[in-house]
Amino acid sequence: MRTLCEEVGESDTGKEFTFKGWVMHYRDHGGLIFIDLRDYSGILQIVFDENIDKESFIVAKKLKNEYVVSVTGTVRKRPEGTANPALKTGGIELLAKSLQILNACETLPFQIDEESEVNEFTRLKYRYLDLRSKRLKDNLIFRSKFTHLIREFLNAKGFFDIETPFLTKSTPEGSRDFLVPSRLNHGHFFALPQSPQLFKQILMVSGFERYYQIVRCFRDEDLRADRQPEFTQLDMEMSFVETEDVISVTEELFASLFNKLLGIELERPFKVLDYDEAMDKYGSDKPDTRFGLVINNLTDIFAGSQLNVFKDNIQKGGAVKAVCLPDGSNLLSRKDIDELLNTVKDFGAKGLAWTKVGESGILEGGISKFISDDERNKTVSRLAAKNGDIIFYQSDSKKIAENVLGRLRLHLAKKYNLIPEGRFDILWVVNFPLFEYSEEEKKIVAVHHPFTSPAKKDLDRLEKDPLSVKSDSYDLVLNGEEIGGGSIRIHDSKLQGKIFEILSISPEDAKLKFGFLLDALSFGAPPHGGIAFGVDRILMLLRNENSIRDVIAFPKTQKAYCPLTDAPSSIKDVQLKELGIKLRETPGKNIKSE
Ligand code: AMO
Repeated sequence: MRTLCEEVGESDTGKEFTFKGWVMHYRDHGGLIFIDLRDYSGILQIVFDENIDKESFIVAKKLKNEYVVSVTGTVRKRPEGTANPALKTGGIELLAKSLQILNACETLPFQIDEESEVNEFTRLKYRYLDLRSKRLKDNLIFRSKFTHLIREFLNAKGFFDIETPFLTKSTPEGSRDFLVPSRLNHGHFFALPQSPQLFKQILMVSGFERYYQIVRCFRDEDLRADRQPEFTQLDMEMSFVETEDVISVTEELFASLFNKLLGIELERPFKVLDYDEAMDKYGSDKPDTRFGLVINNLTDIFAGSQLNVFKDNIQKGGAVKAVCLPDGSNLLSRKDIDELLNTVKDFGAKGLAWTKVGESGILEGGISKFISDDERNKTVSRLAAKNGDIIFYQSDSKKIAENVLGRLRLHLAKKYNLIPEGRFDILWVVNFPLFEYSEEEKKIVAVHHPFTSPAKKDLDRLEKDPLSVKSDSYDLVLNGEEIGGGSIRIHDSKLQGKIFEILSISPEDAKLKFGFLLDALSFGAPPHGGIAFGVDRILMLLRNENSIRDVIAFPKTQKAYCPLTDAPSSIKDVQLKELGIKLRETPGKNIKSE
């Protein structure tokens, strides 16, 4: 019926074609009218010449931006000096001989393809217009190729794509659930799945051995640039596997995706960081290793410090840790250093000690006058600090010092452009603790989820010293973003019972919440393990975007609101009645803002 804009080239000169699409730009030059026609493939310049075809020229006079047209004409080379090398079709144009307006367009709320001042709320309200822009359109086409390649790869490896329910029971990923009231069972609610975790384990009990699904997950949590209330996982599970098997198939999949989509050869095997080392050196379980600023431990050096904040903290069992910013004296003014104090306070720091490094490793400014020669020599040598660097110190509990410096290194790297562009650093973080103590809940909680297997070597400490037990789990990190996580699961119901006990989940509660899984495990569950990847996050990184909203067709705002459809919205009284629900409060206005 028609040809696509970017299907034609110089070799088609003299041939006749019909194109259909949107008027992207319109320029009236008297006897000549130019439009840039856009379809999903790209852009083609069309010329209407009063002297060549009067009829189409008259219709062209009525055109406005984003009118939908069908135009027929002959391809010709653009006149000398008018080629546009920025366009794939920049060397040619179509000389029109007939034009039909298929639809008109209202005045636009913002110009398409322009990264103008228009706020994101308006862009989301008119998402269909913003999706006409090249950047977002290319992102979604890339996304389609990405999921296609995943399916191709996993199908070839013998994985089965199996769907699991959305209307289900609460799943254990530790977020708040989205609930759906039941009309047929008043007072009862479905929960939308935070992940297909329990169902994929049950599929292993059924003997499917290799499962995957590209699936929507729902979590009612505070939103950030890398979080949406509904997001997509590539979810996988395998039977009769160990950690190495999951790691190996993941690496092969990612190597193939990077190669086919970006032409990048990922170095294999991927780097592996121990959780303890990640926390120690980067203050994060998702370290960004594209730049240095590694955290060093100086606790031993400052044990006898004349600085009371250092000495007292160390005596209490705390730590002194530091990062060294190369060439910091040139990058930061005194005012910048003072401002950093406020930044680290937001990260939970009590203060920020610093020194500059002068010639021959002499420390200057900040806390330098409280540092002995011996402490100075050891510090400069451990940090490999050079003339012009600035050292930032944190003295606090090990956890707080690492967390603050971890966030400070990211802050400095972004602010002073220390992150090399176009680089992809992918790595595994392994040996996570199985449990952690939650100050909030005042009890031991699972670091991943309660079905994660303890590391075999630590099993004998499970009851005596549970917080020292590591898990058989692994996270995949790309450029400092957690893009995936998984584990080998517990397939023995007795061990599962013990884990519930440690997590203070009573047998009655366990039965109520996960009884169906526990039952399934007791009917010949094979050893199994798996992983799930955040598809939106991976795409955000591969497309060099700052938010996952830019790789999702219809995302929500930070307040989990959809400006396009005005959801969530209030419902009619009859609907509430049908559901057996009475509202405790009269609904207010929904949050129509970012
Ligand atoms: P986890 O909770 O780590 O594991 O989720 C897996 C990956 O999903 C992505 N992700 C998100 N992406 C966007 N918005 C969100 N709100 C969001 N939450 C998580 C992250 C994360 O690494 N069932 C387990 C997996 C398993 O054990 O196999 C699970 O869901 O990239």
